[in-house]
Amino acid sequence: MSILVTGFTGNTGQEVAKKLVNIGASIVCAVRNPEKARSLFGADYKYVELDYTRHETFDIALEGIERIFLMFPPETQFSDFHAFIRKAKEKNIRHIAYLSVKDVQFMPFIPHYKNEKEIIKCGIPYTFLRAGYFMQNLNLFLLDEILQNDRIYVPAGKGKTSFTDVRDIAEIAARSLTEEDNHFGKKYPITGIQAIDFYEVARLMTSELGRPIQYSNPTAKEFKAYMLAKGLDSKYINVVTMLHMVTKIGLAKGITDIYHQVTNEQPTGIITYINDYRDTFMK
Ligand SMILES: NC(=O)c1ccc[n+]([C@@H]2O[C@H](COP(=O)([O-])OP(=O)(O)OC[C@H]3O[C@@H](n4cnc5c(N)ncnc54)[C@H](OP(=O)(O)O)[C@@H]3O)[C@@H](O)[C@H]2O)c1
Repeated sequence: MSILVTGFTGNTGQEVAKKLVNIGASIVCAVRNPEKARSLFGADYKYVELDYTRHETFDIALEGIERIFLMFPPETQFSDFHAFIRKAKEKNIRHIAYLSVKDVQFMPFIPHYKNEKEIIKCGIPYTFLRAGYFMQNLNLFLLDEILQNDRIYVPAGKGKTSFTDVRDIAEIAARSLTEEDNHFGKKYPITGIQAIDFYEVARLMTSELGRPIQYSNPTAKEFKAYMLAKGLDSKYINVVTMLHMVTKIGLAKGITDIYHQVTNEQPTGIITYINDYRDTFMK
């Protein structure tokens, strides 16, 4: 029986798949377009089609599956995502490791709150990976401004956030899914070692990469206008703005030692992260 890795082509799913393969687990990669995934990621992985908007893909995607790494693509409708969770229950899935958000229990207005509730309601044993702010945001949605304009451009003020490496989240996901009894019913708030602000991140990137990078600290209004003019989707801009407003008002700075508790090791620091992604940040 295998582990289904959802969001395989994305940031976290990709790292979860690598960790699981490294420890010899049998995995199936859930993707919307298996042909495209095969051409991008190679034929060594086994692929299956899964699209939350196409409920007819659910049965086949769950065939021969025992456990799931489950991530929620932000643009997904609850009705579709919850239908998949209910199908997983019907198929006797014995464990879901769900990628959630740190402090979700205080934020009933965000999708993860409802998704966690649905998983609990269905009665499938779960582990909630309540992750802090991804370091990898820097090499994904913040990268364009870093490369084009030598700046980090987000409306987070002087707020600190608990920069968390996606590879550490993947490590805990892989352990949860393979040493599962120890992790059933756990709600892990996963963070990095320290909370820092974006001025500090810019300073560290400048010194580690050897090229000047500034933090621009736009207001939410300036950020939205700039991103709209750049052609980004307004719904997406609102999500990104809200994420950074939470940081700005000081709600994202909490740090936990969950990574150490689960792995007996220290989480990845931001300097290690910057150097591991050095090539991506260089022009
Ligand atoms: N960014 C942060 O700081 C942060 C912090 C904590 C938690 N999170 C949470 O992490 C999640 C995002 O994780 P990520 O960054 O790893 O994801 P990501 O890189 O944005 O990847 C999204 C994945 O979702 C898949 N997908 C999109 N629509 C789909 C559909 N209709 N059916 C099936 N699959 C679909 C995509 O597959 P295709 O290849 O088919 O497009 C892709 O693999 C969100 O739920 C977010 O709230 C983020």
